Parts: sequence; structure tokens; C-alpha cells
Amino acid sequence: MLKGKRIILGVCGGIAAYKSVELLRLLKKAGANVKVATTKSALEFVGEMTFSVLSENDVMTDLFGDNLAKSANSNNSKDFSVRHIEWAKEADAVVIAPATANIIGKLANGIADDALSTMMMAVTAPIILCPSMNTQMYENRAVQRNLDILEQDGILILEPGTGELACKTSGAGRLPEPEIIFDRVLKLFCQKDLKDKKILISAGPTRESIDPVRYISNHSSGKMGYAIAEAAEKRGALVTLVSGPVSISPPFGVNLINVESAKEMADAMIKELDDSDIIIKVAAVADYRPLMAQENKIKKCQRETGSLSIDLVENPDILQMIGKMKREDQFLAGFAAETQNLDNYALEKIEKKNLDMIVGNIVGIKGSGFQADTNKVKFFFKDGSTYDIPLMDKLQVAHKLLDHIIPRVTKG
Ligand code: PMT
Repeated sequence: MLKGKRIILGVCGGIAAYKSVELLRLLKKAGANVKVATTKSALEFVGEMTFSVLSENDVMTDLFGDNLAKSANSNNSKDFSVRHIEWAKEADAVVIAPATANIIGKLANGIADDALSTMMMAVTAPIILCPSMNTQMYENRAVQRNLDILEQDGILILEPGTGELACKTSGAGRLPEPEIIFDRVLKLFCQKDLKDKKILISAGPTRESIDPVRYISNHSSGKMGYAIAEAAEKRGALVTLVSGPVSISPPFGVNLINVESAKEMADAMIKELDDSDIIIKVAAVADYRPLMAQENKIKKCQRETGSLSIDLVENPDILQMIGKMKREDQFLAGFAAETQNLDNYALEKIEKKNLDMIVGNIVGIKGSGFQADTNKVKFFFKDGSTYDIPLMDKLQVAHKLLDHIIPRVTKG
């Protein structure tokens, strides 16, 4: 997604400057053309050579000297360009990580007294600022005031994380991990065709307790549902993700509601339903639960017959319940994992559960369905149209799904 994008990475003097090297690597790996501009103090933490080698570009550390460069595409020896203006003009995005109290103060107050701050005055591209400093400094009223100003100016401020800091204290001020900053850069370049749409997604398995140590569940990893949440958030949606127990991290920027059982999932979904424009039920919900979850662990010696029977009762069909409750202006999509007769079962479910669409998910073939990173799906809409999607990465499937849903929720 970043192929050919021109990104300026601004680095200021803080211990977290070492993380900017990893961020640079991620940006380059994604195909971006990255140029690094540092403050003088940044070079006390990471050498110019590191940024230069990894970015495969000159590094801007100073306004003078080499930085008054001759314009590359000019034959006129008198036609000099000023590098910090050239860089600012060319940039598709600027990320400052770490951003110190000093650069934050300068940018908020229009002070341009070194290469980075002077270049920033000329930048018109989107800017992401990643503050990182000691907690007292970060919470200082002047710093907070300056951050407010920058936010009002349209700069995206990435809140620092909380944890142990280099100054041996603990609190807010840690630079977010490079992967998170990278993810926010990716979002800048995503089309925002779901801007302000509220999307409710369920993902993962449910767990139905047998006793305090055992449960009934299934193999859902949450990958498919989380990929849809990630894609929707990047496209500007306000995403609520109701998730059964999974071991993957939630996408950045989504409202995560953790649940265990089908009953808890039903309660959470129904609570959020009214406030949702699009509902996508990806979760693999256990159809049955033990009639009674035992209070104490079932001991082997209790089973005198050598066998154990557990009475199961049916769980609520959440999708069907939502189908009955949904308003005309809400779009409801379900998933159906099938090993055979995909078309018949999928169409049956659209009808029975009052859905706008169903995603038929072929399981039982390599690289598709539960746990896999890729998926093979077919979209069925209630108007009868169908789309067979080739095997692809789950995030790509997620974008394809949204591509098909969006015209249906935004028309008229
Ligand atoms: O999580 P991954 O490892 O990435 O795997 C993804 C997936 C295979 C779980 C996913 O793509 C998928 O196919 N999910 C649906 C699983 C399924 O078999 O659903 P179902 O046929 O039992 O139910 C159909 C629909 O009804 C689903 O939308 C389900 O969420 C919903 N349902 C089912 C039962 C129930 N009690 N309540 C429900 O809401």
C-alpha cells in the first residue's frame, strides 16, 4: 500500500529514537520512499549513517551546508532549490517519532529554528506526531496545551503508551511500538469510504463451560473477524468488535468487547445493535451448551460406568435474533462455514435469518476457513447476486467484502 509513497520520518532526541529505526525499516519494506530529517539531539541517540543506509537517502540534519542542494532536474547552474522546502513539497505524509516536548512546542507556536522545524512549516501533507517523554513532561500543562493546538490544526497525535520509562519511572510517555505507528501511516492512505459508519462485528469462538476447568468450543482463531474489523477501521468506520476468546491482538482503534459464552455474545451484540449501521457476524458460535455448568471440577472417580454424558441445550441463534430485530436501514451479514452444498446452505440461511447477505466460507480445504491466514469465500446477497472470490489473504477478503457492502449501504 505504501509503494512509491514519499514519507518523511522526523526523529527527535529521545531514548525512543532507536525505535524510529525499526519504523523506518517497516516503511521501506512496504515500498515507501522514506527520507529522514533529524534534530541535532536525535543524532546523540542514533547515528546519521544508520538512517542514511536504511532509507537509501540523504538525511537532513541541518539547514545549511549540504542541505542547500542543487535541484536534481535543473540544467541551470543558478537554479538552486532549498532542500527543506523541496522535501516538504514532495511529501505524501510526515511522521515525527519520537516527538519531544521541544518539537511539539515549536510546531504549536510556529517556531522554525532548525532543519526539522523549518521544514515542518512548509509541509502540507498529513502529519502524524508521536510524543514520547517522561510522564511529568508529557502531563505538563504547556505540553498538553501545545498538543491540543496541534490537534486542532489537524495533526494526528498518537497517544503514548504507558509503562516503564528510561528515567526509571512508570507512566504515560512510551513511544508506541513501530508496528502501531506503521499501522497509522497505512490508515492515512486508505480511502475513507466508511467514514463515521458504525460497524458491529463478532469474531472468534464461544466457550461453553462444562465445569471450572473444561469447556466446549471450536477452532475459530478470530483472524477473519479481526481482519474485517481492521479493514473497516482503516476505511474510517467506528468499529465495535465483540470477540470470543482468541490469542491474537485486536486491531488498533476498535472498541473491543471480550465475551466468553454465546449468551454473553448475544447480550453484547444486542446492546450495541441499535447504534450500528452494519452488523457482520463472523463468530463461530457454539450451537449447544451444557445444560448445567458444574460448580466443581468433574472428577474421574465420579464416572463409575466408564462413560460420561453431558446434557446439552441449544444456544440462542444470535444472528437470527438480530435478523428479527434489525431496522430497514441496517445491513446484516452472516457467515456460513460449510464443507459441501455451500450455495444451498448459504441461501437457506439468508432466508431463514433475514439477512442482507451471507459469506459462504469453504472449510475443509487447505488454506481456507478456521485458523488459516487465507480464505476462500463466496458472497451471496439477498437480491440473488453472488460473487465467487478466489483464495486470498483474510485482510484482502475483508476489503473485498467491504467493497461489496459499501455501495449497498451508501446508495440513495
Ligand atoms: O476465526 P477464523 O479462524 O479466522 O475462522 C473464520 C470462520 C471460519 C470461523 C468464519 O469465516 C466463519 O465461517 N464463521 C461462521 C462459522 C459457522 O459455521 O457459522 P454457522 O453456520 O454455525 O452459523 C451461521 C451464522 O450464524 C454465523 O454468522 C454465526 O455467527 C451465526 N450464529 C450461529 C449460531 C448461533 N447460535 N448464533 C449465531 O449467531
